[in-house]
Amino acid sequence: MSAMSEPWLWELRGIRIESPFVLAPMAGYTHLPFRRLARRFGAGLVYTELTSVDGLARNSEPTWHMLATSPDERPVAAHLYGHDPEAFARAAAMVEARGGFDLIDINAGCPVPKVVSRGAGAGLLKAPERLYAIVRAVRGAVSLPVTVKTRIGASERSAPILEIARAVEEAGADALALHARYTSARHSGPADWDRIAEVKRALRIPVIGNGGVRTPAEAVARLRESGADAVMIGRGALGNPWLFAQCAAALRGGEWRLPTFEERCAVVMEHLAGIAELAREEVAFRRRSRFEPETAAARRFRGHLIHYFVGFRGVTEMKRRLNDVRSIADIAALLEGLRAAGGRREERKA
Ligand SMILES: Cc1cc2nc3c(=O)[nH]c(=O)nc-3n(C[C@H](O)[C@H](O)[C@H](O)COP(=O)(O)O)c2cc1C
Repeated sequence: MSAMSEPWLWELRGIRIESPFVLAPMAGYTHLPFRRLARRFGAGLVYTELTSVDGLARNSEPTWHMLATSPDERPVAAHLYGHDPEAFARAAAMVEARGGFDLIDINAGCPVPKVVSRGAGAGLLKAPERLYAIVRAVRGAVSLPVTVKTRIGASERSAPILEIARAVEEAGADALALHARYTSARHSGPADWDRIAEVKRALRIPVIGNGGVRTPAEAVARLRESGADAVMIGRGALGNPWLFAQCAAALRGGEWRLPTFEERCAVVMEHLAGIAELAREEVAFRRRSRFEPETAAARRFRGHLIHYFVGFRGVTEMKRRLNDVRSIADIAALLEGLRAAGGRREERKA
């Protein structure tokens, strides 16, 4: 890592990370259209959805499609999971050869039973030697920076994260992203940022802290207090890609504002159009889909839509109509309903 002209800029093997606020990988949410928005609003780095190295090695079309990328989202990390060092290294080399990615990220924190039962994701925290072997194998197979995203441990009784973090660094990782919760807590409960500060003090490579950050003030406070090189934001960014611009402004001590209703709607429609494009591309391999691509996209978008309008007037009525959504025009009509209800949040009751 080298310091650039601004104190919060850093570099990984020549890849510039221009903001310390990065978007967390979130399966089902951090597809290409959302990552592009996050980058446009200033996220320093984005990660693809979790992708299986075995699927890549089999040249499975749907798996490669999970890694759909575009130049305007860079720098982007290919976020991969697997349990076999050789298979991991082969898949990482394939990803590098395909081009378009800036980092290879190894997932060692996913708690989903289907992943853990195969010894991948958070399963690697229970067999850290395997994690180190994966890092070494991938490091030897690619020239891109190699990073690891993990948690502070499997549970409070598990092997100390400091030991694991040092060994991951020793194995050749270029940066470590640390979600400050145990696997046993999944995504709930308080995040222990003291652990992040402790790991940061012990390592030479950059440490990206993660967990529980929802607002610009929290993001700046966590960055400063923990000494981490970056703060990774997950759920706080859902329906809120503007958060990255707000965090950057807060870090500079400047003012920031919320998007207007019309700005919000424009981003919503752009996000939805991006999902529709992905759905059209999927026709090539999802031959038995229940819905036409536009309908599939509109229905897939419903979860995002709710995030964009949390607390808005008219949202209860919008949710009631979600089940009937079949097209992009239906989503536009839902926005029209929110506009008619005033296009703003409910006032908080004292
Ligand atoms: C819906 C959802 C999907 C997630 N998928 C992944 C994933 O595929 N890989 C991963 O490393 N973490 C995943 N996470 C964890 C996030 O990257 C992040 O570590 C976690 O949400 C804590 O950050 P937050 O408190 O800012 O949300 C996911 C979290 C959520 C809520």
